[in-house]
Amino acid sequence: MSLLRHRLREQLSLALSQLDLDLPRGFRVDASPATDPRFGDYQSNSAMILAKRLKRNPRELAQAAVEAGNWEGLCQPPEIAGPGFINFRITQSCLEEHTLTIFHDAHLGVPQADPAETIVIDFSAPNVAKPMHIGHIRSTFIGDCLSRVGRFLGHRVITDNHIGDWGTQFGMIIYGWKRYLDREALEKDPIRELLRVYREVNVETKADEGALQACRDELVKLQQGDAENHAIWKQTVDLSLKQLGELYDWLGITFDHYLGESFYNDRLGPVVDDLLEKGLAEESDGAICIFFRDIPELAEKPAIVRKRDGGFNYATSDLATIDHRISEWNADQVWYVVGAPQQLHFQQLFAAAKRRGQDVRLTHVAHGSILGQDRKLMKTRSGDNVQLLDVLHEAVERARTIIEEKNPTLNDDEKTDIAEAIGLGAVKYAELSQHRMTDYIFSWDKMLSFQGNTAPYLMNAYVRTRAIFRKLGEDVSFPERLVLAADGERTLAMKLAQFGEIVPDILNDFRPNLLANYLYELAQAFHGFYEHCPVLKSEGETRASRLLLCELTSRVLKQGLDLLGIRVTDRM
Ligand code: ARG
Repeated sequence: MSLLRHRLREQLSLALSQLDLDLPRGFRVDASPATDPRFGDYQSNSAMILAKRLKRNPRELAQAAVEAGNWEGLCQPPEIAGPGFINFRITQSCLEEHTLTIFHDAHLGVPQADPAETIVIDFSAPNVAKPMHIGHIRSTFIGDCLSRVGRFLGHRVITDNHIGDWGTQFGMIIYGWKRYLDREALEKDPIRELLRVYREVNVETKADEGALQACRDELVKLQQGDAENHAIWKQTVDLSLKQLGELYDWLGITFDHYLGESFYNDRLGPVVDDLLEKGLAEESDGAICIFFRDIPELAEKPAIVRKRDGGFNYATSDLATIDHRISEWNADQVWYVVGAPQQLHFQQLFAAAKRRGQDVRLTHVAHGSILGQDRKLMKTRSGDNVQLLDVLHEAVERARTIIEEKNPTLNDDEKTDIAEAIGLGAVKYAELSQHRMTDYIFSWDKMLSFQGNTAPYLMNAYVRTRAIFRKLGEDVSFPERLVLAADGERTLAMKLAQFGEIVPDILNDFRPNLLANYLYELAQAFHGFYEHCPVLKSEGETRASRLLLCELTSRVLKQGLDLLGIRVTDRM
């Protein structure tokens, strides 16, 4: 199965190679969907770029390439426009054939990755005993989407939730657990109760030096293996994980592993020893550090892998984590979906891993923040972080109100199910339709609107496709041959063909928003088609072809939304 875009590139490349030019090394031709359908389906600026490099006239070069090319069976003779753009119009029969091929392809025209790689995706990773807040939306949803896309492309994806289940906060938690814990509240909502205790201790230690010291002592006892403290630690981790698991289940997000920081505890010493032995780390002021004197932006910023008091750092445990991911899972790549403020940590980590000679590609998939209406980091009225669970419940409640209004005849179970799909879908889509580095404003009205680039709009397009087949009532058999003559049919089929071009592109720069925008355009193309091309009232070949287009649109919308982690329903 080869993409229209690839076929055009290939032909153009072949045409250029016949022109006896001195092609610059590494030069690659490109063709992309046309920005304006009046000019064709695809366009290329490669002749212009090449002409500039070779100091030739761009229009003449474009003309020569068009004449040398063999476009038969693919497109009309290409046209030259403006300063040297080449515009391609795919022939009707080629589009018809291509659409049928996609229809019969299990991956809907999405090519499989070659080579397939083992990719570990490290995302969500909240800290234990602190509830997930609204900021966790970003890493959690982006990471989940990337893992779905990676798998769909045929990669071996391993999702690992590197939870913060070890560290200095446990001194405070254990101290508070022993004094302020309300057992009943703990049973009901462990994470909330642990947070309450943590906050109380936090206030206390700010005012009372003695309490702060007592927390430190609890931490040291924990680190030394004190049985009571270890048992308390274990309980907080287990309780938190159980509750987190429920949240992920609700969101339809799964992890293959939950190997938090504590998992690597007894490997930290050996990592530091290894660094020292190989001369990659050195002592400085009693601490063990890795210096990056040869990397300008890190020259003044060594990574501390063992503190003066003998304790280990975040960087140490991340180094041990890389070892594990390579030795146990054979990772080719690791993607860390973590907010932009941790950029320095990852720069140091990746530089250190490289020094250790680790053969793995490491990428920090950074993201920006979510803002409130006041354009500041979103907080509750009392200044606390907005909790993720509260946001999701509110989303579902709001969706329920909308559904009651729009479609009161649905039964109660249906309403519950649809409200959940819309509410969770809306929050996910609001995230994934943004570029990951953009700070965006969290707006209920915008994300729940049935108009515009939103989850409800896309889910509604899917519902429309299903409604057609419900009305039809009979078993449909899809035709062996297609006729795509009307403009609405053509535009829709052309959009459907682009699904296979967009999905692999997501991973180039980790941009789920490419897929979101594509699905929005597809839904628009479908609405345009639906308005101008009657389906059930048409006849013969036309009707059969239109039904097939509806079915293919339905599948692509469903699959595309699934890659974003969004579930569709048949009615709404
Ligand atoms: N728990 C960390 C935090 O909340 C994020 C961990 C990200 N993953 C990693 N391997 N460092 O900041």
